[in-house]
Amino acid sequence: MTKRPIIARTKAALTRSIDGFRSAGESVALVPTMGALHAGHLALVRLARRRADRVVVSIFVNPTQFAPHEDFSRYPRTFAADVRALAGEGADLVWAPSVAEMYPEGFATRIVPGGAALAGLEDRFRPHFFGGVATVVAKLFLQVRPDTAIFGQKDYQQLKVVTRLARDLDLPLKVVGAPIVRERDGLALSSRNVYLSAEERAAAPVLHRALKAAARDIGDGARIGTALAAARRSIAKAGFTIDYVEARHAETLAPVKTADGGPVRLLVAATIGRTRLIDNLAV
Ligand code: PAJ
Repeated sequence: MTKRPIIARTKAALTRSIDGFRSAGESVALVPTMGALHAGHLALVRLARRRADRVVVSIFVNPTQFAPHEDFSRYPRTFAADVRALAGEGADLVWAPSVAEMYPEGFATRIVPGGAALAGLEDRFRPHFFGGVATVVAKLFLQVRPDTAIFGQKDYQQLKVVTRLARDLDLPLKVVGAPIVRERDGLALSSRNVYLSAEERAAAPVLHRALKAAARDIGDGARIGTALAAARRSIAKAGFTIDYVEARHAETLAPVKTADGGPVRLLVAATIGRTRLIDNLAV
């Protein structure tokens, strides 16, 4: 399937296309992205195709979720290749607004998420992040008006935040979480993996390996604290500086000390060289 998707760069053009889908009685699924698409993003697009008649993929590197010292300006931008990949997956529409189209002169409103957004994970190290994500995702939902929106479990805390956002703001859509796509050696696909040197790339699968060992040990009855300490040791030994390696309730993201209180999710964020990576795994 290689039909080139429609590319909308203005809200007016987007609305015309969406109105066309809607008046034909077609359902719409949205896959929000920041571009630099890889097989993880494309798996979301395939899931979207199964869920709706029309698939809209947004490509927007959202400045409001980056802090001034973060990588907004050097974030990889590969628009032409992204559109080719999306054509291959049969996406119908690419919503690719400019920053000025998304945040026109005078823009002054920000959504401040609570709950999972204050779990003490990503928010502890990127305090501006979920406000920026919630604001842009709410705008994307209102601009595209999808029936379904697909997010990856790769950004597990983000998935919980946007699920709550849709519910709390009575947005009439279903948020669907999709499994993490990994390289053969276990490294979770990420647009930021291109930053890794050969040596860093060789070390990076330790994140998944360490979480897998901890999940197995906890499943076998090891104490969570002991399993996490071992994971921290192997991640640090591979050359990462750790932001967090934590066990949380898989739904509420509340800290857990034992696996008795419901499903547990292990989550990691760590930096190697200049690159900060995140990953997570179910116990
Ligand atoms: P981005 O990092 O481009 O990710 C877009 C979507 O792809 C997210 O839902 C993310 O969880 C998912 N994804 C990334 N890598 C994945 C992998 N290896 N397996 C499965 N899914 C994966 O997340 C964002 O953009 C932004 O914060 C956004 C939601 C678009 C708001 O700006």
